[in-house]
Order: sequence, then C-alpha cells, then structure tokens
Amino acid sequence: MVGAPIACNQIEYHVLIDQTPVLAYMRAHGVPVVAHVPLAQGQLAKHETLAAIGRRYDASAAQVALAWLLDQPDVAVIPKAERRSSQEANLEATRLRLDDADRAAIASLPKTLRCVNPPFAPVWDSCG
Ligand SMILES: NC(=O)c1ccc[n+]([C@@H]2O[C@H](COP(=O)([O-])OP(=O)(O)OC[C@H]3O[C@@H](n4cnc5c(N)ncnc54)[C@H](OP(=O)(O)O)[C@@H]3O)[C@@H](O)[C@H]2O)c1
Repeated sequence: MVGAPIACNQIEYHVLIDQTPVLAYMRAHGVPVVAHVPLAQGQLAKHETLAAIGRRYDASAAQVALAWLLDQPDVAVIPKAERRSSQEANLEATRLRLDDADRAAIASLPKTLRCVNPPFAPVWDSCG
C-alpha cells in the first residue's frame, strides 16, 4: 500500500558487524530494527569471547550474542533455530542481562563480518 508506514527494517546485525549508522537513522525515524543472522549463521555459538562472558552467567556464547542485541532499544532479534535445544536456549536468553564490562568486551571485537552479501547488494556503509 502506497504511503503505509514502515513497520521495521530487517538488517544483518550481530556482535561482529557495526550497524551504528543504520541504527541511528532508524531510531531518528521511529522505525525498529530487526536483527537477522544474529548468530552470524551459527558462527557465534563457538565464539571464545562470548563463551568467556557466558561462563560468568552459566550461559552459552549464543545466548550472550542474543542478549547483547535484545539489550538494545528498538532492536528485535530473529535467530533461526531448528533444534529444540537451540529454541529453548534462545528463549532463555531473554532473561540474561549483560553488564558494562561485558558490553565493553563485545564493543572491542572486530566489526568485520558480513555474512549475507549477494552480488546484487548495495554498497554497504559498513564491512562488506
Ligand atoms: N528477510 C530476509 O531477507 C532474511 C534473510 C536471511 C535470513 N533471514 C532470517 O533470519 C534468520 C537468520 O538465520 P540464519 O540461519 O541465516 O542465521 P542465524 O540465526 O545467525 O544462525 C542460525 C544457526 O545458529 C544455530 N543456533 C541457533 N540458536 C542456537 C543456540 N542457542 N546455540 C547454538 N546454536 C544455535 C542454528 O542451529 P539449529 O538450527 O541447528 O538449531 C543455526 O545453525 C532466519 O530466521 C531467517 O529466516 C531473513
């Protein structure tokens, strides 16, 4: 429908990509961001820094990756999970609260991974 409001903007967003410009633009326009590929297509489930953070809370690296996204205003998250254990863990991640030290550790990670970058993609304003 022409003129209908934009409900959300779905973008690749996880701990290894910087989406600051898009987030700022969307927030300025009141449009929520939906983080797809939030586990970098499963790669973050084995990430050492996230696993180290998770050990403090008896949580997994994947749960830390999701909690970091869920902690951010106007950001929703859609992990893909076929296994029941993944689905349950991801629901449980909504209870996990990271602290400033955790966020600082995640902020220091290289922001250099774009998983979804097809030939028809635009020129990105971050890695890729
Ligand atoms: N709108 C679009 O253009 C668009 C494009 C691409 C993707 N998407 C959507 O975005 C989502 C992205 O899916 P994705 O596969 O690309 O990437 P992803 O969500 O980053 O990663 C999915 C992978 O992580 C694993 N996983 C999920 N939860 C886990 C947990 N708690 N512990 C360990 N591993 C876990 C899954 O394993 P199991 O499945 O074996 O549990 C799967 O291998 C999907 O919902 C997809 O529909 C949308």
